[in-house]
Amino acid sequence: MSLNDFLSSFGKRVYLPNGILVQNAQAVEYCKDLNATAGVAKLNGSIMYLDSSMNYFSNSLIPSEIYSYSPIGGNKKLREIWLNHIINVNEISNKDNITLPIVTAGITNSLSLTFSLFAEKDTDVVLPEYYWENYNLIIDIQTQAKKHTFTMFDGNNFNISSFKNCINSIKSKKIVILFNFPNNPTGFTLQEKEAKKITDFLKEKARDGIKFTVIIDDAYFSLFYEDYVFKKSLFSMLYNLDSNILAVKCDGATKEELAWGFRIGFITYGCADTSFFDELVSKTLGAIRCNISNSNTCAQNILYHSMMNLKHNQEKEYAKNELKKRYNMVKDVINDMMGKYKDSGLTVLPFNSGYFMSFLTSVDAETLRLTLLRQYSTGLVSFGSKLIRIAYSVLDLDKIQLFFENVFSCSEKLNKVV
Ligand SMILES: Cc1ncc(COP(=O)(O)O)c(C=O)c1O
Repeated sequence: MSLNDFLSSFGKRVYLPNGILVQNAQAVEYCKDLNATAGVAKLNGSIMYLDSSMNYFSNSLIPSEIYSYSPIGGNKKLREIWLNHIINVNEISNKDNITLPIVTAGITNSLSLTFSLFAEKDTDVVLPEYYWENYNLIIDIQTQAKKHTFTMFDGNNFNISSFKNCINSIKSKKIVILFNFPNNPTGFTLQEKEAKKITDFLKEKARDGIKFTVIIDDAYFSLFYEDYVFKKSLFSMLYNLDSNILAVKCDGATKEELAWGFRIGFITYGCADTSFFDELVSKTLGAIRCNISNSNTCAQNILYHSMMNLKHNQEKEYAKNELKKRYNMVKDVINDMMGKYKDSGLTVLPFNSGYFMSFLTSVDAETLRLTLLRQYSTGLVSFGSKLIRIAYSVLDLDKIQLFFENVFSCSEKLNKVV
């Protein structure tokens, strides 16, 4: 008897990758406090959180805010407050061109639902070469779409010509694009002039009749650490650009609100043509109904109360500043190490935001990861044979120097052996 005799074609294709979660489980075993694998934020070794949401676990929720079903599209008050948040931080002026955000069970769920609505087998999907590993399951395995990746960097800048060439090489009149800034795994965000070049080009192509669905994964939105970085979502430039461009913003409480376990995400649409909005929202609700039916009531209500709390913004700013201090220290430490370990074979990819930074490696990235794990009790994530990712969001300031010393010294040793 073979399991395949029972499985659907999706059941046959799907698998659990030996990716971040498996590598994290290994790091938990080997590393005491030098474990920079998981995409969360920690302070003094414990998970970070906002007091304005934590307080509601000890008091204040009424039974209906915990036990009732929520509407399919989510708690109306939460959707409205999230809409205001999107409008304010992105300085959206034409509010009629965006829909009320729809609540999902986390950003993964937002992305998966979006792909189920806008892509299918062989749909052309364009994205940069460095992306969150779970996109493979969503795009390749679940959707069976055709991925086209382009070279992400030209020096320290976004590689606009590679992006244009990639789009120009596609013959189809229907293209899905997936952007994620701050990016996982590199920690890179565009500058405003780069965002403008992207959107000008898309407008030009849209005028030629190509229909674009631009999915914007804003998981790490607001964690910008440099003045030169564009501090709005690409959604702010796309939501009313052209009737042939549909912008889909996938974001959520996960990282923005330090609420990884809440499992609350959103989908918000924007387009110059609003005539199909009602139908589109209704279809999205249909997709939710046959998938998760509706999202967690308790988490939605705590998130709502937390966002209404007067201390909320101040608490978020505090958390962001904690991460910014680490970012600055990581930059300084890497600068020093580059001088000290001249033969490390490590190349830094541009980073200026979010949770992560990545190195390209000259030795096999998985060998480097395993050696760091076993001989240095130092945990990071490897992607393929050439890239390692470090989640400095989990490293307290006093651990950063030692962590990078281990990475550089281990890499140099392996590099000299090869
Ligand atoms: C780029 C990116 N998008 C989405 C997610 C998933 O978010 P959620 O936990 O809300 O599903 C992650 C989580 O690591 C991520 O890095």
